[in-house]
Parts: sequence; C-alpha cells; structure tokens
Amino acid sequence: MKKYILALDQGTTSSRAILFDHAGQICGSAAQEFPQHYPQPGWVEHDPNEIWNSQLSVARKVLRDNHIDSQQVLAIGIANQRETTVVWDRKTGEPIAPAIVWQDRRGAELCEQLRGAGKAKLIADCTGLELDAYFSAAKLAWLLDHVPGARERARHGALAFGTVDSWLVFKLCGSHVTDVSNAARTMLFNIHLMRWDQDLLELFDIPAAMLPQVVSSSEEVGHTREALFGGAIAVAGIAGDQQAATFGQACHRPGMVKNTYGTGCFMLMHAGRHAPVSHNRLLSTVGWRLDGKTDYLLEGSVFMGGATVQWLRDGLGLIKQSSEVEALAASVPDNGGVFLVPAFAGLGAPHWDPHARGTLVGLSRGSNRAHIARAALEAIAFQSAELMIAMQKDANTPLHAVELSEVRADGGAAGNDLLLQFQADVLGVPVLRPKVTETTALGAAYLAGLAVGFWDSVEEIAAQWQCERRFEPHMAAERRAELMAQWARAVARSRDWAQP
Ligand code: G3P
Repeated sequence: MKKYILALDQGTTSSRAILFDHAGQICGSAAQEFPQHYPQPGWVEHDPNEIWNSQLSVARKVLRDNHIDSQQVLAIGIANQRETTVVWDRKTGEPIAPAIVWQDRRGAELCEQLRGAGKAKLIADCTGLELDAYFSAAKLAWLLDHVPGARERARHGALAFGTVDSWLVFKLCGSHVTDVSNAARTMLFNIHLMRWDQDLLELFDIPAAMLPQVVSSSEEVGHTREALFGGAIAVAGIAGDQQAATFGQACHRPGMVKNTYGTGCFMLMHAGRHAPVSHNRLLSTVGWRLDGKTDYLLEGSVFMGGATVQWLRDGLGLIKQSSEVEALAASVPDNGGVFLVPAFAGLGAPHWDPHARGTLVGLSRGSNRAHIARAALEAIAFQSAELMIAMQKDANTPLHAVELSEVRADGGAAGNDLLLQFQADVLGVPVLRPKVTETTALGAAYLAGLAVGFWDSVEEIAAQWQCERRFEPHMAAERRAELMAQWARAVARSRDWAQP
C-alpha cells in the first residue's frame, strides 16, 4: 500500500491540499479560494470558519479524488499564512471576531506610540522584527481593546490566541499549539531564548493565559479527530509558509536564498544556527526547529507581489486572467519609462513605510496598458532586487562573508518567464526555478515526513531538489544601475503619501 504525506498550505487567498510521495513528487492536489473582507481602507479580514471549511474541504477532496484512505497518509504537515491573528473561545471553539490578516494596518497607531516611547530597539533585539503593524502583537492588542470584555476573559483563560497554524491544529486535533517559526512572527516571542517574552507581553498587554504552547517544526503534535478523514492522522509538521518554502527549496545551508512570488514577495536567506542581526532593515527570524536545533533566516518581506497582477485584473480590468499579463507585458519592448510602485498597503522591507501609497509615474502620451502591465511585473522584480541588495550588505560582513550566488524562485508568479528573466537581469545573479514549484507545501510535507520517519535526513530531501529552468542575467551593469536608480526615484514619490 503506497504511503503519502498530506500537506495543507493555508495561504492568504486560497487553501490548498497536496499529496506527496516518497520521491517528493506531487500525487494529487486541490485548491479553493476563499473570501477576503475589506471593511474599511487599510483593513483586511478573514472569517476563521471560512479558512477552516475551505481547508478541510480541499483536504477531503484530494484524498477522495485520488482514492486514498487515511491509513495511507502517514502524516499531515501544515504551512500557513503567517501573522494573521485569530482569537477563539476555548469552550465553544468559536472565534470571537474576524481574523485580522497580516496585510491589515489597523495596528499602525499602537506601533507608532511604541516607537515614540523608544521601544523599537527592545523589540528588535528580542524578536528580530521591525516594529510594524504587519506582526500579530498589535493586531491582538487591537482585538483585546475592541471586543467588549475580551481582555478580562483572556486573563481568566477563557480565550485562546493563535496564528492560522494554531487555529487549524485546534480544529483538526483539539490541541492549542504553534511552532517556533510562527511564534517568531507574533512579536511576542524571544527568538534567542525560544520562549514567550514577559516584557513584550506586558508592553502589548497580552495575557499569557491565551498563548499556545510552542512546539518544534517537526514533531507529532496530535492526531486528527476520527470523523474528519475516516481515521486519525498524525499532525507532525508545522511551519510558516515562507519558512516552509525555504525548507522545501532545500535552502539548508548559510547563504542559500529563495524568493516566493505569492500574494507578497518573500526573500529568505539561510543564516545558520544563530539569529542574524540586520543593519539594513531586514528581519531576523526562526526558520525551523528540527532535532533540537534551530536554523535562523534573514528575511525581506514585500507586501505586494503577485497581488499587483491581481490588481491589474480586478482593480483596473486590464486583463481577464492573471496568466494574460506575460503576453501583454511582452508586447512592448520595455516599460517606456513607466514605473508602478504598488505600495497599496504601505511599503515593507527595506522601507517600512505604512504611509506610502501606490504610485504610477513616467506616463506619456504614448503609454498604454501594455506599459502598465510591464511596469507591474517589473515592480515585483525591483522590490525583490531591493531585498537582495539589503541582504547582500547584511551577509557580506567580516562576520558572515557569505556570497549570494543564486536565487531559487517559487510561488504562483514564478511561472512567468518574463518576470524571472527580468528578475535575473536586475539582480545580476541567476534565478533558478525548481521542477516542483509547490515548495511551500513540499516543505511542510518534508517537516512532517521527517518526524514520522518517511524521510531519514535533511540530506536525503536536499538531494530531491531539481532545477527546471535557470534564468541567467544578461543586462549590462550600467543599465541595471540606471533602472534601479529610476525605481528609487519612483519609490521616493510614493513615500509618506498618507501621512496625516
Ligand atoms: O507573512 C505573510 C505570508 O506568510 C503570506 O504568504 O503566500 O499567503 O502570500 P502568502
């Protein structure tokens, strides 16, 4: 009887379930989009029950469609959208409010107050994070401030907080846990001591009684309730989706870099066994904890990646389907001087400007929709290039002296050849696309499979990574510098726009 690992990839816009075999190959998949809620500008919410129902339904579908029963699934691995904050009643299991999504900016005011009070360094030293509304702490504080009675109930242990991994494990198995990679994104977790930090809990006024137990990324944390899949399955791997993708891309050694082109763009570099310190406004974060050892990563997070193409489709109606963007952008030889800065939700790394707003510059009488499509794709690459430049500066110090020699690409928009070629051009290093581009799910599967002995070692899974296409940089260095300088001018125009 053939055995599988089932990966649940709960992303910002869709829930996916993918079955992997021992060769790390995809044997079946199912995906479902779920509703996004935008109750006011800068707010983004999900219904936790819609997250759960869509995730459960694709997990059941992939098993059903491929005639696989629960006994053939050795373990489940979970990869999830990170930072998104859920609070539920421990007794009823019902959420007390909508989930506040990572893109939501409502915590910006609290972050500014804390910055004004001089707390940014304390927070960065302890958590490796920038003081920004992106992370869970300010979202959770907002919920406790605005849902009547919530803080009091949380103090008495009646409420549970979790990121989406916690929420899914609670619904699957009934336990209340989170893994180290997700805990590291809450802004409440000390990434050096690997535990919740009392000072930060006080700073954000978060009752400790509502926090999940922190587990490693690769261990059995419970078994699914029998009724869900017709038999109990072990949940044995958990990681934030970007850390899972880094693991699935086999970036297991210092200096190895992956970039995921999903809703946002997330470039992560393996940084070894000590938390790196960024001097260029990147994040220092936990990658995974495996066999009692923690691997750390350096991360650059850009809020609008593939979502920029969605905006061309849904906001402007320039294209009917996202896949049309490549042909439209390729119908012009270059951007014709048009630059789009997709700062719709502010700017993430390395600028961290919540007041930046989307900006289209360089339009002339000859500009057309193809130039805008091209500018949108190029914006994804320019933003990623800024991350790489910051990363290179952080990595290439006397302390690290790591040379970043290539980038492994994945995520939906990594299927776009024009984008990856332009990316290689503006980075000046090769961009490699693997045969399996579902690396987020693959990473979660690997973490779960290692815990139950489906795979024996990290070396064994690293040997499964195969390149499908390598994009070599062709652009002259002067042209690259010229484009990056123009991009920097466009970014400058988008900055501080929404400043009150
Ligand atoms: O930090 C946010 C990130 O985890 C979201 O990833 O793939 O849903 O865009 P994705």
